[in-house]
Amino acid sequence: MDKNNFSEEIELDSAHVWHHMTQHSNSKPPMFVKGEGSYLWNADGVRFLDATSGGVWCVNVGYGRETIAEAVKENLIQLNYSAGSTGTPIASKFAAKLLSYMPGLHRVYYSNSGSEANEKAYKMVRQISEKFYNGKKSKILYRDRDYHGTTITCLSSSGQEERKNQYGPFTPGFVEFPHCCEYRSQYGDVDNYAELSLNALEKIILAEDPDTIGAIVVEPITAGGGVIVPPEGYFKGVEALCRKYNILLHIDEVVCGLGRTGKWFGYQHFDIQPDIVTMAKGLASAYAAISCTVVSEDVFKKLNDRPDERESYFRDISTFGGCTAGPAAALENIAIIEREGLVENSEVIGDYLLNNLSLLMNKHQVIGDVRGKGLFLGLELVKDRVTKEPMEETMLMKVVAHCSKNGVLIGRTNRSFRKYNNTLCLSPMLTLTKEQADVITEAIDNALADL
Ligand SMILES: Cc1ncc(COP(=O)(O)O)c(C=O)c1O
Repeated sequence: MDKNNFSEEIELDSAHVWHHMTQHSNSKPPMFVKGEGSYLWNADGVRFLDATSGGVWCVNVGYGRETIAEAVKENLIQLNYSAGSTGTPIASKFAAKLLSYMPGLHRVYYSNSGSEANEKAYKMVRQISEKFYNGKKSKILYRDRDYHGTTITCLSSSGQEERKNQYGPFTPGFVEFPHCCEYRSQYGDVDNYAELSLNALEKIILAEDPDTIGAIVVEPITAGGGVIVPPEGYFKGVEALCRKYNILLHIDEVVCGLGRTGKWFGYQHFDIQPDIVTMAKGLASAYAAISCTVVSEDVFKKLNDRPDERESYFRDISTFGGCTAGPAAALENIAIIEREGLVENSEVIGDYLLNNLSLLMNKHQVIGDVRGKGLFLGLELVKDRVTKEPMEETMLMKVVAHCSKNGVLIGRTNRSFRKYNNTLCLSPMLTLTKEQADVITEAIDNALADL
């Protein structure tokens, strides 16, 4: 690739584009110009192994998938759009396919982003509260360290103080409960961490009054909050509390969905039955913007129980939820995952990479914890293994830059907390091979050795 090809575009970008999550300065942001499989090329023609699936855990099936492009093209030419109050063949087919992997769930509501999918869920909870509980059961509980999106209301339900900072006031009715990161146990060195976490949750439910709580929203494995896998038994306990107090269980699969964790959905590791599941990112591997809010029959029926009443339906719309590109890309995305056995690959190669990284702990004292499931892994870096004092964010930035210099893109927790921006994050494509897993391991090994 000719190094000078993109100089004009780089100038235009630098002059006009306001980049996400970027403090603009005199240095020009990187520009990627091509992707194929697990690899990206920048404007200088340098190739990178992308262990982030597009920076924010999206491109599950990898770059350059012609069959997805063809499916999208075919649908765009046939019929690019019809408002979501009407049907299209492709949206009907994708909904049926998606539900075939989500036993116990019943309906698919289309929109465009993870935040929007979560907003829909919150609106459903609030409307159920209005219809059936005189507006009393409207609170939504969320967990410290989880993230549910960028809008003011999604931020209101996110447990990441630095992300929220400067954007208040927030939407009322959202209440935080403690995180379940055992490595950062709030209860000391205990052997019943799950039980104590559940007790803490129940205490908050009781303090708030269960009759005022409509839903609990949680990530199955916390993503940007530090790749936190819950302790054994935790989710069964959360589900039991929801049932005990008549609270809806909303699982945010925006990151974990579609094979990322070695199962179709993250919640499926824990033998639970959610009432609402939201998803976006890997749903169409970012070949098109699509998100879904998937609900149980009971939730659907509650909002459709009186057809003769003027306002007795879910009075929500998402204009671009009617684009056919989304379900077209998502249907072929699932077909690729099925054809190539990518959920299984995520589990097998994920275990392999997890083992590689765990072995690095013997060499590098700065690795305090290695955790994750499937191809969704994190390494928490500390200054001292005994005190667990978090490594400074600047050091993680150096590790990421070192890996990038050696051709491997990895992620990190990014200004989400005042204290805990100390986890390196890996979310490679689900097509990852053992050889590529070794390259990622070596890049991290070298970075930690040099720094
Ligand atoms: C768990 C989770 N939920 C929701 C969102 C919001 O998704 P979006 O950026 O598509 O609005 C994100 C984004 O990173 C996320 O990680």
